[in-house]
Amino acid sequence: MTTISRPPRIRARLRVPSDKSISHRALLFGALADGASVVERPLDSADVRSTARCLAALGAEIVWPPGSERASIRGRGLHGLSEPEDVLDCGNSGTTMRLLAGILAGQPLLAVLTGDASLRRRPMDRIVRPLQEMGATVFARMGNSRPPLVVRGGNLHPISYRSPVASAQVKSAVALAALFADGTTRYEEPSPSRDHTERMLAAMGASIRTEGKAIVIEPADRLTPLTIRVPGDISSAAPWLVLAVCHPDAEVLIEDVNLNPTRTGIIDILRAMGGEVAVLDLRHEGGEPVGALAARSSQLRGAEVAGALVPRAIDELPLVALAACFAQGRTVVRDAAELRVKESDRIAMVGAILGRFGVRVELFPDGFAVEGPQPLRGARIDAGGDHRMGMLAGVAGALADGETRVLNDAVEVSYPAFWRDLSAIAAGEGVPG
Ligand code: S3P
Repeated sequence: MTTISRPPRIRARLRVPSDKSISHRALLFGALADGASVVERPLDSADVRSTARCLAALGAEIVWPPGSERASIRGRGLHGLSEPEDVLDCGNSGTTMRLLAGILAGQPLLAVLTGDASLRRRPMDRIVRPLQEMGATVFARMGNSRPPLVVRGGNLHPISYRSPVASAQVKSAVALAALFADGTTRYEEPSPSRDHTERMLAAMGASIRTEGKAIVIEPADRLTPLTIRVPGDISSAAPWLVLAVCHPDAEVLIEDVNLNPTRTGIIDILRAMGGEVAVLDLRHEGGEPVGALAARSSQLRGAEVAGALVPRAIDELPLVALAACFAQGRTVVRDAAELRVKESDRIAMVGAILGRFGVRVELFPDGFAVEGPQPLRGARIDAGGDHRMGMLAGVAGALADGETRVLNDAVEVSYPAFWRDLSAIAAGEGVPG
């Protein structure tokens, strides 16, 4: 349990942990390459370690000692994985389970994928359906919708698939299976989700392109190994951006952040609310835009968030509800029903957690609304084992009157040093990257 209160003044310069989505993909795709890949600064967190452990159980050679800033992977080629002797444990990580299922759909092996209690409640029908359509044998609990998931792959054919949800995990599962199909696969989604998979597979020599609203994937013979340095995760920068714009005396500089336009919705939302957020030193590295983010105390106003902006900020939307407490007027988030099937039901959790701080949040099936400004008073929060809810509660505690205690924060999933960084920021110290 961690105790937090509001610091009088915030001046911070820091690097946040490396991008989780890119780290998972670098390990997964490296394991499929022909030869040795090197990943510099992979995110060392519980979720990415789950991916590494599953790959090792499938026979990939990964050398990534605890505390090391480099992972080396000896790829076995697209067809080189071996049948695991035991069930694969994906822990809390939906990305691990859904992307691995796509890879396993192309392998003539039997694998069973499971995870913790949260992951076992999350929907898998969204990947079971297209992978079955491609010819893989895939089934799951509760009418093929909940893990554990059983996959026996091989002999895939191409499909033309229109996903009902904007999800990079579903898109990636289909794109990975498509590498093993005997023809051209097309995939469409309602609005664009993060495109790290497309960028990384293309950099490894796969033929994957966009055609209008669709992505088109050709089968592959081989993937070339990759050497990549993983930049900081905008989803881990977001708590500090929100803290800075809401706090009355704050300046924060976050260096080395991935600024892929499919991920930067939080910058657009905070700016629409009047937040002073600047992008500095924008450059390209490893096929992705990277830069620094500067944010400071701002006069905020309410904003409406819906449509194509939603997938571009999906993991940051709970923090928008917190920013709304410091804004003049009404902030509304809609079209975000996906929040209900994340590590927890994040619409219900936003209502419950901000409710404990004394904030009234109106909840909808697909979002929420907050009438601002509303003061926060310190509270005792159970984050329910959802890392993003733990960090929401931590930042809310640093903006509230009085003392806040957070339990079940699960920050080890994506940001193991979150509490250390929060105390350093509150103490006005720089945080070493
Ligand atoms: C992720 C995609 C998102 C996001 C998750 C990571 C990824 O999920 O919420 O934290 O790495 O592909 P969906 O794309 O399924 O919404």
